[in-house]
Amino acid sequence: MSELGNKSTLIIPGRIIFGTGTISEIGSLAAGYGKRVCIIYGRESFIKSGNLDRVIGFLTAGGEKIEEIGGISHDPDELLVEETVERVRPYRPDVIVGIGGGSVIDVGKAVSILLTNGGKVADYWGGRVFTRPSIPYIAVPTTSGTGSEVTKNAVITGRDGNFKKSIRSDYMIPDAAVVDPSLTFGAPESVTVSTGLDALIQNIEAFTSKNAGPITDTLALRAIELSGEYLIKAVKEPDNFKAREALSLVSLYGGIALANAGLGLAHGLSHPIGIHFGLPHGQACAVVMAKVMEYNYSARKERYDKIGSLLAGKPGVDAVAAFNELAFCFGISTRLRDYGVTEEDIPLLTEGSRGGSRNYNPVAFDDTEVAKMLKELL
Ligand SMILES: [Fe+2]
Repeated sequence: MSELGNKSTLIIPGRIIFGTGTISEIGSLAAGYGKRVCIIYGRESFIKSGNLDRVIGFLTAGGEKIEEIGGISHDPDELLVEETVERVRPYRPDVIVGIGGGSVIDVGKAVSILLTNGGKVADYWGGRVFTRPSIPYIAVPTTSGTGSEVTKNAVITGRDGNFKKSIRSDYMIPDAAVVDPSLTFGAPESVTVSTGLDALIQNIEAFTSKNAGPITDTLALRAIELSGEYLIKAVKEPDNFKAREALSLVSLYGGIALANAGLGLAHGLSHPIGIHFGLPHGQACAVVMAKVMEYNYSARKERYDKIGSLLAGKPGVDAVAAFNELAFCFGISTRLRDYGVTEEDIPLLTEGSRGGSRNYNPVAFDDTEVAKMLKELL
């Protein structure tokens, strides 16, 4: 497997700060953009854990004025994003800080760019292009999963709740990302499993995508190796510092890899499966991942063999077997019928998987092939 001969591009935030305790740097970082700071957050648990007060303390240490926008929900829709824009607008922030899981960070990105460019979410789904930089935005993840702190898109649910789609622009890449693994402590086990699997799958799909290149390969490979070593450990020992740090790195590397190399069919299918059958994103990806690898195997044999060895921590292990073992360990069924999917749902899921991530899959799938694969997964 050679990394030579392939093109690779790297677009990332101007500053990434990684490490336990680095959240204490958020105040001086934000102050570099001005005195008016808006903080966007979501989870009740973030408040209860005392982390919100801690972060506000850092942000106001230099006399900065702060506006709090809380209660951002999972799977944000167009209306929530547009309402949040109107909540933030009168405050005229110099900088916006988004702290939370992928959904919260995505809302922060969308709000920051809509404030400077105007218009509605649907305008940009319809082809309008962002032409102005966003308000300076600092992203701080509290889960180890999406890698959204380093990517250029925000996933938003349509107002009728029937689809999820991204808005995207290089202007949406956060200006800075602070990745402090200590903020991920206290996440429920189900969140660690789902986000951890998402992070792993993002690295697998970026490493095997049509756009994979040497820079992203290096990060994705290390992330897959770290997942093999620490994912189960982080779930079984939620207070294990090393494991939490490892998962934060897996998430960060996955975000960088996917933003620059793209993803694949597992992500393409995860959105319709998640939205129509209520599965968390990482779990929706995990249900189909092994089957997608089976279909893709002959086109990326060497790469999948490498993934199998790294995940299992020993040579000669098949990637599909290594991944299935992980899914089994977390009690994740890889049969769609266990989540209520029937044969009648296949056209809906097939249609929902078009475009986006599916375009980067190493093997081109037409709708008939996707439907065949889904039938095998029932
Ligand atoms: Fe993902």
